Amino acid sequence: MRVTEMRASHLDALAAIERACFAEPWSADALREELGRGIFLTAEADGAAVGYVGCQTVLDEGYITNVAVSPGFRRRGAARALLAELETRAWAQELSFVTLEVRASNDAAIALYTGAGYVPVGRRKNFYRAPVEDAVLMTLFLREPEGQV
Ligand SMILES: CC(C)(COP(=O)(O)OP(=O)(O)OC[C@H]1O[C@@H](n2cnc3c(N)ncnc32)[C@H](O)[C@@H]1OP(=O)(O)O)[C@@H](O)C(=O)NCCC(=O)NCCS
Repeated sequence: MRVTEMRASHLDALAAIERACFAEPWSADALREELGRGIFLTAEADGAAVGYVGCQTVLDEGYITNVAVSPGFRRRGAARALLAELETRAWAQELSFVTLEVRASNDAAIALYTGAGYVPVGRRKNFYRAPVEDAVLMTLFLREPEGQV
């Protein structure tokens, strides 16, 4: 397994993973819009895309759009490797933090993010649809907020 930048050749496989994972999946065209922007990384196994992480960046802030791993490739460290490479690149780009929303019932993802150093920082009521559910906000702090010591 290796982690590389997301490329056009990954998009169809990643859109299929999106459909397998989410009620409102991103399409290949939506993913194509992100090529060369932010920090979008693909996990490849035997040359095939098996998962990805997307992180949009604005100034020194990172916003994870999605993390998804093919159902047949879970629990083999792909998501952990994707988040580790994302963190390396976030440091290199001098981001102050990387943040995300996760369904409150998504124990697997919350365990993944907690293990990667993300901490809960808030909750958005009824943030998700299909089904309606709260979002937990989790953030990986890379630099102390201004004014704090
Ligand atoms: C969440 C998800 C990305 C994890 O991907 P993965 O490649 O299987 O995760 P990893 O193998 O890298 O696991 C890393 C750690 O995350 C946690 N974790 C992952 N899956 C878990 C599960 N089903 N239950 C509990 N903890 C889990 C564990 O702490 C795990 O470490 P361990 O295997 O040493 O115990 C994957 O289950 C997925 O695609 N889910 C559907 C999409 C989704 O919910 N994305 C998150 C949206 S915010």
